[in-house]
Amino acid sequence: MTTTASPPGQPGLQPVIRTSIAGASVADLARTHGTPLYVYDAEMIRRRCRDLAAWDTVRFAQKACSNLAVLALMRSEGVVVDAVSTGEIHRALAAGYAPHAAPGGGGGLPPVHPIVYTADIFDRESLEAVAKLGIHVNCGSADMIEQLAERVPGAGITLRVNPGFGHGHSQKTNTGGEGSKHGIWHEEIPDVLRRAEWAGLAVTGLHMHIGSGADLVHLAEVAGSLERVALEIGRSLTTISAGGGLPVPYKPGEVHADLSGYFTLWDAVRKRLEDRFGHRLRLEIEPGRYLTAESGFVITEVRAVKKQGARKYLLVDAGFNTLARPVLYGSYHPMSLCPADPRAPATGAEEVAVGGPLCESGDIFTQTDGGFVSTRALPAAHVGDLLVIEIAGAYGFVMASNYNSKPLPAEVLVDGGVARLVRRRQTPEDLVRGETV
Ligand SMILES: Cc1ncc(COP(=O)(O)O)c(C=O)c1O
Repeated sequence: MTTTASPPGQPGLQPVIRTSIAGASVADLARTHGTPLYVYDAEMIRRRCRDLAAWDTVRFAQKACSNLAVLALMRSEGVVVDAVSTGEIHRALAAGYAPHAAPGGGGGLPPVHPIVYTADIFDRESLEAVAKLGIHVNCGSADMIEQLAERVPGAGITLRVNPGFGHGHSQKTNTGGEGSKHGIWHEEIPDVLRRAEWAGLAVTGLHMHIGSGADLVHLAEVAGSLERVALEIGRSLTTISAGGGLPVPYKPGEVHADLSGYFTLWDAVRKRLEDRFGHRLRLEIEPGRYLTAESGFVITEVRAVKKQGARKYLLVDAGFNTLARPVLYGSYHPMSLCPADPRAPATGAEEVAVGGPLCESGDIFTQTDGGFVSTRALPAAHVGDLLVIEIAGAYGFVMASNYNSKPLPAEVLVDGGVARLVRRRQTPEDLVRGETV
């Protein structure tokens, strides 16, 4: 239960006491599975998938949260996946996705590819995997065309195009423009089409993704740019993809995007292209963050409360080895407290910096871009209380590491109030597996 009012479907963005997640007790979760612990709310994931029902295809950018149970949940919602590595291809297969499309997409639409490999290169392993399994490829570099043609003559491909501009919540998540290595430069398209034709590959898909967390005005610019490139490619196109980047509100005052306005804009592009080409086009969206961010929580335990001069610090047992976004991007995550003693009244909010256990001064959850330590208003906390870091379901566990030889945390999925362990915590043996003295 959160004690602040929140719009339905949106977690509390104010300092709060949180005693449960999706109907499961935070204290019980910590007691049963230990801390730090990732917890996902299955119903929130379903809700976010259904928000996007207007699109022909919702393709989950699984890099955001690739636990098999989450992928299986996506599959049960009719959501397909993107894979950026051989490992992600294997995850998708293990979650029950077929490697390639069954014939017939329904309603005159082309069949949907259950898994698309999207990358700027093939390493040798991924080229082998896509060739062997017949996985559709979204090429982010022209050199991939001949490499694929040699292994899979006559394949259909998607082109990922860099439209010459980009946006993102941080320079590191901006994936368009000259500063980005991603995609095929928009001015290179005529040359790339000649290369595809020469190699005997048909360009059936067009994809753009300019950055994560970009606002809708910027995301909409992509639509105009994609339309121009689609006309250059012509009638071989059967699918267009708006990419990902749909923002979620992390900070107080931020709101959800206008999803229906965004769809309308893309649908209009699709219809104009259909009129020009004389056949139906599949319209895809490829979100990562939007589908899982709000479902995820990290439960940590407060292990020390101390003052450094005038500043108060809470030190918890999760660090940037557990959740890297604050140290990587200066990202803001809402936090709430679950007191160890549920009868103790929460006393007024105080400004604290929150850090982790790592032997690194940058191991701070309350930091801004550039690494400056800031503070957060939280109810007074004591050693043994649980601190819940919220909106951590995207780019959370997937970026966790073994730095400082810390084991990867466990992951739990809560559905209908029932918590299920979906990845066990690593053990000390896991940490040295494969090493020799
Ligand atoms: C090609 C591609 N598609 C989709 C996404 C998902 O972005 P987001 O999580 O912001 O929706 C990414 C993220 O980097 C990406 O690189």
